[in-house]
Amino acid sequence: MVVTVMMVGFLRWVSVVSLLAVVFLDGFIISSSYAAFTPVDNYLIACGSSQNVTVDGRVYVPDTQSSSLVLTDQGSSIVSSNFLAPSPIYQSARVFPRPTSFQFEIRQSGRHWVRLYFYPVPNSEYALNSTLLTVVTDDFVLLNNHSLKDQNRPYLFKEYLINVTSDHLSITFVPMNGSVSFVNGIEVVSVPDDLIVDQVPQVALSTPFVGIPTLALETVYRLNVGGPRIVPMNDTLGRTWENDQKFLYYNDSAKVESVDPSTISYGEVVSPEIAPNWVYATAEIMVNVDVANVIFNITWSLPVDPSFLYLIRLHFCDIISMALNQLVFDVYINSYSGIAGLDLSRQTNVLRRPYYADFVSNVSSGSPFINISIGPDTTIMDVSNATLNGLEIMKMSNDARSLEGSLSVRDIYSGAEKTKKKLTVIVAVVLGIVAAVLLVVLYYCCFAGPRSKRLRRAHSWLPLPLYGNSHTISKVSTISQKSGTASCISMANSNLGRTFTFQEIMEATNKFDDALLLGVGGFGKVYKGTLDDATNVAVKRGNPRSEQGLTEFQTEIQMLSKLRHRHLVSLIGYCDERSEMILVYEYMANGPLRSHLYGSDFPPLMWKQRLEICIGAARGLHYLHTGATQSIIHRDVKTTNILLDENFVAKVADFGLSKTGPALDQTHVSTAVKGSFGYLDPEYFRRQQLTEKSDVYSFGVVLMEVLCSRPALNPVLPREQVSIAEWAMMWQKKGLLSHIMDPYLSGKVNPASLKKFGETAEKCLAEQGVDRPTMGDVLWNLEYALQLQETSSLNDPDDNSTNHIADISVPHVHPFDNSMSMINGAHSVTDDDAEDLTTSAVFSQLVNPRGR
Ligand SMILES: *[C@@H]1O[C@H](CO)[C@@H](O)[C@H](O)[C@H]1NC(C)=O
Ligand SMILES: *[C@@H]1O[C@H](CO)[C@@H](O)[C@H](O)[C@H]1NC(C)=O
Ligand SMILES: *[C@@H]1O[C@H](CO)[C@@H](O)[C@H](O)[C@H]1NC(C)=O
Repeated sequence: MVVTVMMVGFLRWVSVVSLLAVVFLDGFIISSSYAAFTPVDNYLIACGSSQNVTVDGRVYVPDTQSSSLVLTDQGSSIVSSNFLAPSPIYQSARVFPRPTSFQFEIRQSGRHWVRLYFYPVPNSEYALNSTLLTVVTDDFVLLNNHSLKDQNRPYLFKEYLINVTSDHLSITFVPMNGSVSFVNGIEVVSVPDDLIVDQVPQVALSTPFVGIPTLALETVYRLNVGGPRIVPMNDTLGRTWENDQKFLYYNDSAKVESVDPSTISYGEVVSPEIAPNWVYATAEIMVNVDVANVIFNITWSLPVDPSFLYLIRLHFCDIISMALNQLVFDVYINSYSGIAGLDLSRQTNVLRRPYYADFVSNVSSGSPFINISIGPDTTIMDVSNATLNGLEIMKMSNDARSLEGSLSVRDIYSGAEKTKKKLTVIVAVVLGIVAAVLLVVLYYCCFAGPRSKRLRRAHSWLPLPLYGNSHTISKVSTISQKSGTASCISMANSNLGRTFTFQEIMEATNKFDDALLLGVGGFGKVYKGTLDDATNVAVKRGNPRSEQGLTEFQTEIQMLSKLRHRHLVSLIGYCDERSEMILVYEYMANGPLRSHLYGSDFPPLMWKQRLEICIGAARGLHYLHTGATQSIIHRDVKTTNILLDENFVAKVADFGLSKTGPALDQTHVSTAVKGSFGYLDPEYFRRQQLTEKSDVYSFGVVLMEVLCSRPALNPVLPREQVSIAEWAMMWQKKGLLSHIMDPYLSGKVNPASLKKFGETAEKCLAEQGVDRPTMGDVLWNLEYALQLQETSSLNDPDDNSTNHIADISVPHVHPFDNSMSMINGAHSVTDDDAEDLTTSAVFSQLVNPRGR
C-alpha cells in the first residue's frame, strides 16, 4: 500500500474537495430556503469570557452576563488569546475548585440540546489537561471521570439530547480527586419535540423499544454520508455533520453521488429539521452498478462502547434513480437484517424526497463496533444499487441514568463527599508517591544515561510501552527445514529507527510536492522523498484528524518495530513533531506488483520472475505467521501490498490492519471483518474468525492474479468471471488453467511448473481454512514450481537472463547481520541472496519430495 495509487479513493477525494468548494460558495442555501425552527430556549454561553464570542455567525454570551443563568460559584476564569485554539470558544474557560452548577431557566419543557466544549487552556495556575471531567445534570450523568488524554486531539466537544420537564436545568461540574474541573462553552437549545419519537424497532428483536422520552441521549456519530462536513451555521438545528469516509470498511466498494441540494423536496413526514438538504443531496452508492448480481455490501464500521444501547438513525433519499421503483436494497445492522427490500419510492412516492429509519441496537454482543451495511436486494435481479445519505448514532443512557460508566448522579455526589473527607489522607499518600517517583527519576538521570531518556519521550501517537526495552536485543534465527530457508528475525528490538524532524521531512519531500506523490489512501498520502545522503525513501503522512488512521499507524509501527525481514518493507524512521504522524520507509523503486501485471505500460513479467516474486512474498508472509513468538496475521494481502524493489525483490507492505494471531490455546481470533474485496477469505467473512489461513486464501487470489494478469474483481466482466478466485478455480478443476492465463506467457511456461502452481493456488483457495496449506507449504510448493521451470529452461540460455538474482554475486553474509542492514536501509544483501545461489544444493531435495 505504500505505493498504492487507489484510483477510487482518489476520485472520491476529488469529489469531496469539489463539494467542499460548493458548500463554501453556497453556504447559505439552507438558512435562506426554509422557515427555520426557532428555539424558545437558546443559550450560547462563553465560559470565563468577559465579552461576546462569535463563532461562524453564532454569538456566545459571557457566563456572567446572562440574566437567565445562575452560577452557584464563580470559581475562577482563564482567558488566553495567544494560542491557536481550534475555535474562539476555546480561548477562555471557567475553572471550578468546588462542585458548581450552571442553572438555566427553561421556558419550554421538552428536549434540549446540551453541548459542552472543553479545551485545557494554557495557563500558569492549573494543569487542566490532566483534569478528569465529571459532569451531571439534575437526573443524568453526562461525563464521569473522563480523561482528556485518551483522545488524539486536545479538545473535547460533547452533544447531548435531554428531555427537561422542569422550569430549570442544572449542569453541574464536579471536580474529582481533589483537583479542579473546567468548561469553555455551553449550549442549551430547544429541539422540536418530534425530532425523536418513541417506539423504535429493535435490531434482531420483534418488539419495539419503548421509553426513549425518559432517556438522555449522547451524539456519538453524525455523518453526512458522501458529503462534506456541515457546520452548525448551515444546519437547521445547529448540528455538526462529519464526512463518513474514514468509517468505510472497503473504500473501493462505494462511490460518492451528489445532486443540487435545492432539488431535494421535503414531504410531510420528514422536515428539514430532521436533517438539512445538504445531507440528502449527497450519498454513497455501490461502485459496481453494472453487475447483475452483486455480492457486495457497503459497510460503515463505527467503534462504540459495547456496554450501552444505541439509537441509530439512517437517512435515505433516492438521488440516483431516473424513475420510481428502481432502487430496492437491504439494510443490515451488525449482520442482522435491519430493513429487507427497502424501496424508497414506496415510502416517498417521489424521487429526491428524504426518508429516515430509526433502530435501537441491542446486539453489539460485546463487539466494540456498530456495523451498518447496505446492499442490493438479492431477490430482485434487475436492480442493483443501494444508497445511504446520512447516519446518526446516539448513545442511550443506562439504568443508572448515566452515559459514561455505571454510577448514578447520587453515587457521584456521595463519592464527591467522600473524596473531600479522604482528601487529607490522599494528600499524604500523593506526597509519598511523588517522593518515590522523584527518587526513581533521580536514579535514572544519574545512572541510566541519555539513551533511556530518549526512549521515555512520550510520543503522542506512538503506542507505548514499546516492544522490549532496548537493554536486550535478542535475535532469533529460524531455519525452515523444508525449504532450507534461513530467515533472520530480530525480536524484542524496540528500535524504531531514526527520528526525523518535520523540517527534514519537508526538505526530503520538497514540501510534500504533489509531483512526488506515490499514492493516496484512507490514511493519508505517500510521497517519494530523498534524504540528505541521497537515499530514496517513501514518506507516509497520516491524516492527524483520522482516528482510524491513528489506530492503523499505531498498528503499523507496533508491528514494524518488531519485524525485520528481507521480504517485509522496512521502516527507516518516523516524525511525530507538531502532532504529525509520519512514517519513513525504504523506497521500493518498482512499486506495487499489481502495476506490473496489468493496467500500466510496464513490460510483462517473465514466468520465472513472477514465481520469484510470489516466493518472496510467501517468505514474508511465512515469516509473519511463524517468525515471532505470537504469529501475525496480515489481513490485507493483495497485489497492491506486495512491493518490488529495484531488483524486483518482493516485499510485503502495509501492516495497518494486521493482528496478532491466536494464542497457543486458541484456534482463531474473533474480529470484525477487514480486508479488501476480492481477496477476502469467505470463511472469515462468514464466521468473523481470523486465522493465518485467511492470509493463505488471499495469497491464493494473488497467485491467480499473477498467472492471469487481471484484477481480483472485475465487475465489467460477465457474472461468472467477475471474481478471479471463482473463475480460475473453475478452470483449475477442469485442469485447463492455461486457458485463462496471461496470453503473453503461453508457450513460455513449463507445463509441470504451471501444474504445480495451479495446484498450489487451488489449495490456498479451499473453502475451509483447515484444508488450506500453511504459508510454509505454499512457499515450498512455489519453490518446487520454480525448480520445474528452471530445469526445463536449462537448455535455453536466453531465459536465464531473467534471473536477476542469480546474476548478482554476493559475499556470504552472516545471517545475524540481516536485521541491522535492513534498519540502516544501506543495502539489501542478505542470507536470502546467498541462499538463492545455493539453490542447486537444495534442488536435489526439491525434486525428491518426501511424502508430499
Ligand atoms: C452580546 O450579544 C448579545 C446577544 O446577541 C447582545 O444582546 C449584546 O448586546 C452583546 N454585547 C456586546 C457587548 O456586544
Ligand atoms: C419528556 O418527558 C415527559 C415526561 O416523561 C413526556 O411526557 C414527554 O413526552 C417527553 N418529551 C419528549 C419530547 O420526549
Ligand atoms: C450483506 O451483509 C450481510 C451481513 O453481513 C449478509 O448477510 C448479506 O448476505 C450480505 N449481502 C450481500 C448481497 O452480500
